[in-house]
Amino acid sequence: MPRPFSLEYRVSDDPVALSHAAAQHFVHCARAAVESRGKARLALSGGSTPKATFQLLADKTQPYRAMMPWEKLEIYWVDERCLPPDHPDSNYHMTRENLLDHVPIPPRQIHRMQGELDPEEAAAKYESELRNQFRLEGAQGPVFDMLALGMGDDGHTASLFPHTEAVHEMMRLVVANHVPQQKYNWRITLTWPVIVEARDLFFLIAGQDKADSLHRVLQGPYDPETLPSQLIQPRSGKLVMLLDRQAASLLPAPDASGIGKMEIHR
Ligand code: 6PG
Repeated sequence: MPRPFSLEYRVSDDPVALSHAAAQHFVHCARAAVESRGKARLALSGGSTPKATFQLLADKTQPYRAMMPWEKLEIYWVDERCLPPDHPDSNYHMTRENLLDHVPIPPRQIHRMQGELDPEEAAAKYESELRNQFRLEGAQGPVFDMLALGMGDDGHTASLFPHTEAVHEMMRLVVANHVPQQKYNWRITLTWPVIVEARDLFFLIAGQDKADSLHRVLQGPYDPETLPSQLIQPRSGKLVMLLDRQAASLLPAPDASGIGKMEIHR
């Protein structure tokens, strides 16, 4: 059932400014969750864009580290490549290397997708981990306090890739997805009905190579089979996009403070 929502896109001049804007947003979301609920359950995407933000959050010479309630964070993943945790292209490995190895989050509060397992087994285990951690009953799904998404130049998000089965999954919380077009062609991913329930849901997107797909996702015809990022219609009715100028170059120009707004009706 399509759901109209308000999009706010915040355009930074360059990737460095974008990583600062993203670090500020992470701190804002985490602190708000801890203030309201005593802890912050964050679901992170992988890929390359978040690296600079993770480094800023961990950096002792930057203001963000001291502002983050590390001991109250619960870390989850939006998706994972089916690789061992020490593989350089594992999302967990990237997050550890750039963030988790440098900040005081208790290990029991880090909930890794086990990419080293058989994909179906890894998906089932993560779904059961979510059910236990969120104390879910029946058809309930987990509501993350903050969920950070990236977007590929093909319009994918999480591991919801064009023309793959996971795009159609509406019952399970976590699935294994075969992605023939990718180098690592087995993935574990949260499903879109889980993603859209997050309280603070945002995309972090940088680079000219994303401009065309972002324009088609936001202003093109509704075709989630081809552009899975169009599935992300937040339950909260609010979606934030943190963009650099290049990624935003085909969108309507933002205002003087770099803010653009759109009402998306699908
Ligand atoms: C992954 C991510 C994926 C990512 C996009 C963008 O496993 O790769 O979770 O969804 O967010 O592919 O990746 P970049 O940030 O590298 O462009």
